[in-house]
Amino acid sequence: MVIIPNFVVFEGGDGSGTSTQMDLLRRRAGPFLYCTAEPTEGPVGKLIREALGGKVSLGAETLARLFSADRQEHLYGSGGIVEHCGRGTLVVCDRYVLSSLVYQGITCGQSAFGEDLPLLLNRDFPGPELLFFFDLDPDIAAKRLEARAEKEIYEYRDFQVSVRQRYRELLPRYSGEGVRTVTIDASQSPEKVGEAVWNELQKLPILLKNA
Ligand code: TYD
Repeated sequence: MVIIPNFVVFEGGDGSGTSTQMDLLRRRAGPFLYCTAEPTEGPVGKLIREALGGKVSLGAETLARLFSADRQEHLYGSGGIVEHCGRGTLVVCDRYVLSSLVYQGITCGQSAFGEDLPLLLNRDFPGPELLFFFDLDPDIAAKRLEARAEKEIYEYRDFQVSVRQRYRELLPRYSGEGVRTVTIDASQSPEKVGEAVWNELQKLPILLKNA
């Protein structure tokens, strides 16, 4: 797998705190850091958000294709990930290919096309240098999600149990392809998780260079 240097990804089930950690990181951010997320704020990402919120109904395969189209633009479009990383900026992205392999792997696996579709749609995308997996018991995650006003289509317990299981299955395969993966115990306080993330980030060549 081709790896993009300076590219870091946050992964985990819903309610595992990836977005909270992104906010914490943004506050610590220096000029070398660019925080971003998938689905993006672009036109394809907006359509995905509508589908996630249940405002539009789309088939599992359609959604899988939209996620990869959104990713294509996010990576290679103007002002995208590749451009930022190439300039020597550290890019941290909330969710990436592994989210598609996990979530769309489950939903497409239950339909005619099968779970190979997300693999096929994502096989040519480069990998990140470092991937954090925020590991959390789905029952704790469900408690955290209760506080949210709007529920998305994947935010129910049984689905999240499969999500966690699939992340755990796929992570070793992913790290075997040259991506450094770090599993974080996401049941800790946001501050503790933030420290663990920050300490790992400091080991990246780009931060060692700019320290
Ligand atoms: P998330 O960042 O967790 O949403 P929010 O900010 O609303 O908490 O991500 C939105 C949802 O999108 C999440 O349930 C995971 C899902 N998702 C996929 O199913 N496939 C993908 O490829 C990506 C990037 C996200």
